[in-house]
Amino acid sequence: MPTQQNRSIESTSLRTHLCANLRASDVGSTVTVCGWVARRREHGEHLAFLDVRDYSGIVQCVVDNAVDVRSEWVVQITGKVQPRPDGTVNKNLSTGEIELSDCTITVLNAAEPPPFPIDARADDVDENVRLKYRYLDIRRERMQRNLRIRSKVNSAIRGAMEAQQFVEVETPFLMPSTPEGAREFLVPSRKEPGSFYALPQSPQLWKQLLMVAGIDRYYQIARCLRDEDLRADRQYEFMQLDAEMSFVTKDDVLAAISKAVVAAAEAVLGETPPTIEQITWRDAMNRFGVDKPDMRFGMELVELTAVFSSTEFKAFSSAACIKGIRVDATLYPEQAAYGRNKLDALTDRAKQIGAKGLVWMKVGEGLALDSPVAKFLSDAERASLVSSMGAQNGDLLLLVADEWATTCEVLGTLRNDLARPPVHEGPYKYVWVIDFPLFVGVNATTGKPQPGHHPFCQPHPDDIERLESDPMSVRALAYDLVLNGWELGSGSIRIHDPEMQRRVFRQLGISDEDADKRFGFFLQPFKYGAPPHGGFAFGTDRLVAILAGEENIREVIAFPKTQSGSDPMTNAPTPVNPAQLNELGIRLLPPPAKS
Ligand code: AMO
Ligand code: AMP
Repeated sequence: MPTQQNRSIESTSLRTHLCANLRASDVGSTVTVCGWVARRREHGEHLAFLDVRDYSGIVQCVVDNAVDVRSEWVVQITGKVQPRPDGTVNKNLSTGEIELSDCTITVLNAAEPPPFPIDARADDVDENVRLKYRYLDIRRERMQRNLRIRSKVNSAIRGAMEAQQFVEVETPFLMPSTPEGAREFLVPSRKEPGSFYALPQSPQLWKQLLMVAGIDRYYQIARCLRDEDLRADRQYEFMQLDAEMSFVTKDDVLAAISKAVVAAAEAVLGETPPTIEQITWRDAMNRFGVDKPDMRFGMELVELTAVFSSTEFKAFSSAACIKGIRVDATLYPEQAAYGRNKLDALTDRAKQIGAKGLVWMKVGEGLALDSPVAKFLSDAERASLVSSMGAQNGDLLLLVADEWATTCEVLGTLRNDLARPPVHEGPYKYVWVIDFPLFVGVNATTGKPQPGHHPFCQPHPDDIERLESDPMSVRALAYDLVLNGWELGSGSIRIHDPEMQRRVFRQLGISDEDADKRFGFFLQPFKYGAPPHGGFAFGTDRLVAILAGEENIREVIAFPKTQSGSDPMTNAPTPVNPAQLNELGIRLLPPPAKS
């Protein structure tokens, strides 16, 4: 065994090598590996082959078949590296040219048979079972790879931020409730029964206070908690690269964040992504129908309102906005050839999203249009439609007429349904979406506008004069980073003038008194010289998942919750002892009746 001084980094007091690092060049040396028994095969009367696995991979060991070792037992094996006999070389294995012979085995621990095979076959095992035995699932190559990619991404991000003189500052977990939009997890206070802390949806308030405090450039790989419905790209707990900078404009923020994203992509893929393009929110909606456009494919929305400006077709004649998408028969032959059932299903889907209907047209020989509504259109309208959409024989055209937002949203959703590749399939297309609206929609209870991002975003200087008269038309200095149709992150230039913050709060229906009561701790410091500042946060779980080629962030999180929010391994969430509740001054209501 090597001494501590002359060891390579992978060796320890118990091993000289990692299993998968042994090569033909090591033939003749005596080595010691440690790991789990991945497979045992009997060979002749006296010998057995053991595949021994550690995180690096597998090495084959030839042992006396009298040894009692079984699947997943933990062993230390010392043996001589030998070339494999002719005809037994395994080209698929990094150690496929060699094996360990003359082995001595020390059993470090016995193991019960695992509930599923510790290899790729477990991909097909029910996810609840994988999560119940997550510590076994993580032994597998896929999870080892993913968690190591995650670590690489974190390290690359840290390096990029440190190189730009960002300072890592940790911020509290126990804090007051804040207006960031998501439902919060609450923590009851024992000292003040009836009062609660909220767990941070993000470090938003703290990082802005750090700018008032003169930190200048802050970052943190921060855990955030939101009580949201879980999906492929959402967990209750998730990680953000969270950053904030003083004395900056949008371009400074985007440049700094780009460096972190590029460093992460380079660390994992070994290649530098192209410069990230920018698109305004309005253009994204107009062209792709969504605020997180997947730019890996075309099928862009085509503006057709002018084509039908004097149409007699009732469904189109009074519509504010008419747009269409062309399902190109050469690129999407299956979708372009949809029959009646599929077209009816598309129409139902469009209606589900809010459309009044969906016009479909099949482009035939001589660019004739085959559609139940073609007869309601004039020759000029048909010709203009075909040329505006660049239609070709065999294509399918889908048209929607409605308010601008509905038309965009419906066609944007159909475009994704029809042609969007899985998120993790290359190529990687990053895009900055800028100039988001300051407000979106109306709060059903208050009847007031809701913040587009959060209430601390600076209104666009060109639109501020309309803040009170036409709030819904005001843009924010707010931006998102989108990758392959997933929102990777969001940020903005913030309001640093307390009076402007109050004006925005008032639009949200939060009076000055309310604001002081709820966010006084945040507003007060802004009176003491807040610098102009802005920042950004992106979800590292999402970035890691896409870079690792995974479609669900659960695959890149060591111990995630299931879709229903539970942890099959620990059984969390669990009821607690009544004495604990008493201490907190909490009495439970009977559980709501199951519907
Ligand atoms: P936002 O709320 O847009 O912005 O969040 C930023 C990014 O965090 C990730 N994210 C999630 N990832 C996994 N599971 C979730 N439940 C989840 N929710 C959000 C996404 C998202 O884009 N404080 C602001 C940022 C700022 O303005 O600086 C914020 O948190 O990738
Ligand atoms: P109707 O006049 O409602 O019978 O609709 C005639 C056809 O136009 C049907 O195929 C509807 O799905 C479609 N349609 C109706 N309203 C709209 C609309 N606003 N946008 C697109 N298609 C519509």
